[in-house]
Amino acid sequence: METMKGLKRSHYTNDLSKAEIGAEVTLTGWVQRRRDHGGLIFVDLRDRFGLVQVVFSPDQQQEAFAKAEDLRKEYVIAIVGEVAKRPEGTINPDLATGEIEINVQELRILDSAKTPPVQIDGEKKVGEDLRLKYRYLDLRRPEMQENLILRHKVMKKVRDFMDQKHFLEIETPMLTRSTPEGARDYLVPSRVNAGKFYALPQSPQLFKQLLMVSGLERYFQIAKCFRDEDLRADRQPEFTQIDIEMSFMNQEKIMSLMEELIKELLAEVGITDVGEFTRLSYAEAMERYGSDAPDLRFALELVDISEIVAEAEFNVFSGTVESGGQVKGINAKGCADFSRKDLDELTEYVGIYGAKGLAWIALREDGINSPITKFLSEEELTGIIEEMEAEEGDLLLFVADQPKVVAAALSNLREKLAVELELIDEDEFNFAWVTDFPLVEADEEEGRFVSLHHPFTAPKDEDIELLTEDPAQVKAKAYDLVLNGVEIGGGSLRIHNRELQEQIFEILDLSPAEIEEKFGFLLEAFDYGAPPHGGIAFGLDRLVMLLGGLDTIRDVIAFPKTQNATCLLTEAPSNIDQEQLEELNLEIDIEEEDLL
Ligand code: AMO
Ligand code: AMP
Repeated sequence: METMKGLKRSHYTNDLSKAEIGAEVTLTGWVQRRRDHGGLIFVDLRDRFGLVQVVFSPDQQQEAFAKAEDLRKEYVIAIVGEVAKRPEGTINPDLATGEIEINVQELRILDSAKTPPVQIDGEKKVGEDLRLKYRYLDLRRPEMQENLILRHKVMKKVRDFMDQKHFLEIETPMLTRSTPEGARDYLVPSRVNAGKFYALPQSPQLFKQLLMVSGLERYFQIAKCFRDEDLRADRQPEFTQIDIEMSFMNQEKIMSLMEELIKELLAEVGITDVGEFTRLSYAEAMERYGSDAPDLRFALELVDISEIVAEAEFNVFSGTVESGGQVKGINAKGCADFSRKDLDELTEYVGIYGAKGLAWIALREDGINSPITKFLSEEELTGIIEEMEAEEGDLLLFVADQPKVVAAALSNLREKLAVELELIDEDEFNFAWVTDFPLVEADEEEGRFVSLHHPFTAPKDEDIELLTEDPAQVKAKAYDLVLNGVEIGGGSLRIHNRELQEQIFEILDLSPAEIEEKFGFLLEAFDYGAPPHGGIAFGLDRLVMLLGGLDTIRDVIAFPKTQNATCLLTEAPSNIDQEQLEELNLEIDIEEEDLL
């Protein structure tokens, strides 16, 4: 292989235009494509900024031409040549450098390459596993580079904006104690402190609160967070937050400052047409959409018909209402002609979310078609039709169950229908603040209350008395920001006083000893003059995914993990040596055959 010795790159490909015609340039990059044509060899040379066509001619430079015959895709080369106007009829209007080409005088082959298993030019044709295994090749693709550039721009804008508003970026530890954000911890054994473990932070929550106690007033951090939870398209075990905390601010002020930040981020990528941020209470979001992160780009609202059918002969409905459940429906406008097969598919779909069935009423041209109307009175049927504002051509779909199941089934059905009926304007950016969350909810499995956000969230002042009587009724000073049905951020005002924080821990069923052991340092900090404070954290990966119009956060993370939390490139996590285990006083207690 040759070296760059004596050569120095003079331009990136996108620096070149007609203005450079006649100039001698030195370029470096990868061979995107090689074509042999009428005694000439054409190579598309790619660098980070684009492509340019370079031409090897046996008449001009015999040696370079001979070497060019060896070039294959993804070879790394340097060339010296002269910028020339492309001959008439060979101009490529799709290429930024399409009016010129480089007549090569010297070629150096800096590295050869095997045929890449991931195609660099054109559509991604291979499966994601292969892309993740060869991520460094996948990242050569211009689309992926665009994503990383977008991410960089967003991070830079965040830093500029926060700096302007007097926020300080302060790093907080990765090796720390558990911060309860509702997921399992990733643990790191300590060698020096035998038998003890650090937890990787699920968020910098406690540290940012301590920084407020320190009087730093305004903190932010582009922070790595780690959560061992079930992974999905918008969840990674290791992800990044734009984490923010400030003192002496009320909820309204925090929310409006955050709107300003978000609008600037959007403007950075050319999106200026952002409407008002909708405000919804948690109760309203659940009632109308069955979700605390509803997509408001389309309607398909949930309608509660429990009262209308409470006495119905159709026992699936009346029985459910009687046992404390509810019956809700969606009016799928214009879908009366759905076939049996379509309806079976939808029934199967809501089954995934626990629904035991999907009742339907189709208002067809030739009358009402439905398996359930024979069990409904005239009055009940009219009541339903009125309540759901149904007209000819509509299809009404119902689920009867406990509220949780109804919400899960219908909110997902709502999204599925919106996609199938093409109700979503992909260019719209629809923001909604969801507020007034319950502070805690009952965890039936564990038989105790758990925080909806985290245990440091302040209850609403007017609900403090309810804390002792009926914790489930207490609302929190918490707010989530939802963009197109994705929760992109969540935050709250915090408790900044020992007694109230202790009371909340008790409601969450922590014993005084546990409280002291896990959170003693926080409570103690509150004894030394803690300012009222609050903040928020945005999921950077999710935000960039949505700004880029992408379907998964894996596409905006350089080296993401699979659904099984593995890295296909480095094959992490991996087994470790017996020696390392011994140093850490650890023993692996699984059968040999279960070891992967
Ligand atoms: P929360 O747990 O809501 O709040 O997290 C904030 C935001 O982070 C994003 N997010 C994730 N993104 C990718 N993969 C994940 N596994 C993942 N989990 C969360 C979401 C979410 O809205 N400390 C609090 C914030 C605060 O109260 O200030 C917190 O972490 O977009
Ligand atoms: P069945 O009486 O089981 O034949 O059901 C009649 C109709 O009611 C079918 O369309 C079922 O899909 C539907 N159905 C059954 N259980 C429920 C439920 N819990 N909620 C809504 N529809 C249901």
